[in-house]
Formats: sequence, C-alpha cells, structure tokens
Amino acid sequence: MPTSDPQRRPRVVVTAKLPGGAIRPLRDACDVDLYDGPEPMPTDLLAERLATADGLVCFLTNRVDASMIDAAPSLKVIADVSVGYDNVDVPAARRRNIVVTNTPGVLTDATADLTWALILSTMRRVVEADRFVRAGKWKGFAFDLLLGGDLKGKQLGIIGLGRIGQAVARRAVGFGMTIAYVPSPRAGAQPQEQFDGFTATPLALDPLLRSSDVVSLHAPSTAETKHVINQKTLMRMKRSAYLINVARGPVVDEQALAWALREHIIAGAGLDVFEREPEIEPDLLTLENVVLLPHLGSATVGTRTAMAQLAVENCIAVLSGRPPVTPVP
Ligand code: DGY
Repeated sequence: MPTSDPQRRPRVVVTAKLPGGAIRPLRDACDVDLYDGPEPMPTDLLAERLATADGLVCFLTNRVDASMIDAAPSLKVIADVSVGYDNVDVPAARRRNIVVTNTPGVLTDATADLTWALILSTMRRVVEADRFVRAGKWKGFAFDLLLGGDLKGKQLGIIGLGRIGQAVARRAVGFGMTIAYVPSPRAGAQPQEQFDGFTATPLALDPLLRSSDVVSLHAPSTAETKHVINQKTLMRMKRSAYLINVARGPVVDEQALAWALREHIIAGAGLDVFEREPEIEPDLLTLENVVLLPHLGSATVGTRTAMAQLAVENCIAVLSGRPPVTPVP
C-alpha cells in the first residue's frame, strides 16, 4: 500500500471495536490503532492519534472537525461506519483531498424494520402497556383499556424519501396505508408518484403534515433540515397523528415536541435519535405517549457486521490507491 515512505505500512485509527472479524483485513494490510474503551473515543485522544494516521474508521459518535483534519497531514480516508455523515466536516476533508465514505444500502432494511417497530409500539401503546402490566396495574380484560390508533386506510407521510424512506413506504403497503412524501428540494429532482413497490403522492411540507396520520422522518441532518419539526409545524399536524424519528435528532426541536406531546397537540411520538445523544430532553422522559430508543436503527448483528465490513473495504481501497466503494456524494 503506498505511503510517502514505501517501507511503512499505513496507520489506521479505528475508534471502536468492529463486530464479526471485520477488522481482520485491515490488520492484514495496515497498522491498526484500535480504541476499545467502553465509551466513545475522547475527542482529544482521537485528534492526537489522527495526527500521524493515514486512515480513520470512525462512528457517528466521533466528531471529526476541520481542526482535527487539518492537523493530520498524512490522512487520506475517513471511513464512517454509518450512512449519516454529519459527524464529519466533509468540505474540510475535500479541501485536503481526503476521501470520506459512508455505509449506505447495507442498513436500509434493518432501519426500516426498526421504524415500523416504533410506529407499531407507539400507536398500539406497547411500551406503555408493558409498564402498566409490570406495575401490577392490570385488573383483567377491559374493553376500553389502552386503546391505540389504526393503520389501515391511514396516510403515512415521509420526509426524506431516500433508500430508508422508500423501504419504510414499501412496508406500509402491507398495512394498507396510503403514502405521501415531501419531494427533495435538490435541483432537477422531479416529484414522482411511482416507486419500486409503492405509489406515493408528492406534497409540500404543510399539506403533508396536515393530512398525514403518521409522519416519519428520514432526512439527513443538515442546515436545511434543522428543527423542521418545531412548535409551528407540530401545530399543523392532526391531533390524532404520530411522529417517528429514526433519522437524526436535530431534525426535531425536542423541547417543542415535549410540549406538543404534553398538551396532546399530537397523539404520540417514537424517537430513536436525539439532538444531544445520549442526553434526552428531560420532559420527554416523563411522558407516556412517547417511545424512546437508544439509536438502534441499524442495530442487528448482520447489519452492524456488514456496515463494519463496508467501512473497512472503503478504507483499504483508498489506501491502496483504488476508488472507494461508497464515497459520500
Ligand atoms: C446511521 O448509519 O447513520 C445510523 O444512524 C446508525 O446506524
């Protein structure tokens, strides 16, 4: 593998353990500096180790900013083990000709499945009901006990109809739902109605919020998507509607959401991601009508292994002078 000194093997920092032997090919080809502490690798330690590294395999919990990138003169590749790459300053990496890669595709189904776990558990009050039973409050069958919402004939509104959003929509067909989505504002992207396995109505944000029974967020975290769900937009939703977020925390203003749930402006929410993970807006922790998960979208053994393998493949490809498999767009 080419480095400035042809005798030297590339040095790669890996910020956490990788599952399923995914690290082996990296160890075969490179000198691996693995951080295997129980918490995310501290930022100052990452900066220190990165300063002499040729490659980085990192996770969404590692903030890789411009100062860190600029202080790493040999760095050639940042292989993020996630589909979202808002933790990396991509423009700063591009300025230095450092390739940034992510792991699209391999986590689509697991994340779509988890979205449906959240939709169902939120609408049918599964977690609340489990707490109720464990607390010894169940006195026997009651016709009006813990009634939830129906799915059949209702509208699923998707904000962010990329790979994961589309996989969520395909699953909605099986539940008899209709699908609406907000078309991407990207230049040239024409709204469509026909997709692989489902049809969907393109709607602007406001009509989508007003007409949907479940609103599911699958947009990346960018300046444009920050707090798209806020007090104003929550007030446009139906009182009977549910909000689901498996995308990124900053898309939702958590304080506004806590208010909307407390005041029953919407019926419920299911959240897998938060603005300041692992911190959660304290009010959300006190509410029954929200299901809270610790960022588990892609958390299956097979998916996490495939993500790690893809990141390693990307890292090795770039350090070998080959094009990466999945560079960020
Ligand atoms: C991602 O990949 O962006 C998920 O949030 C974590 O798997």
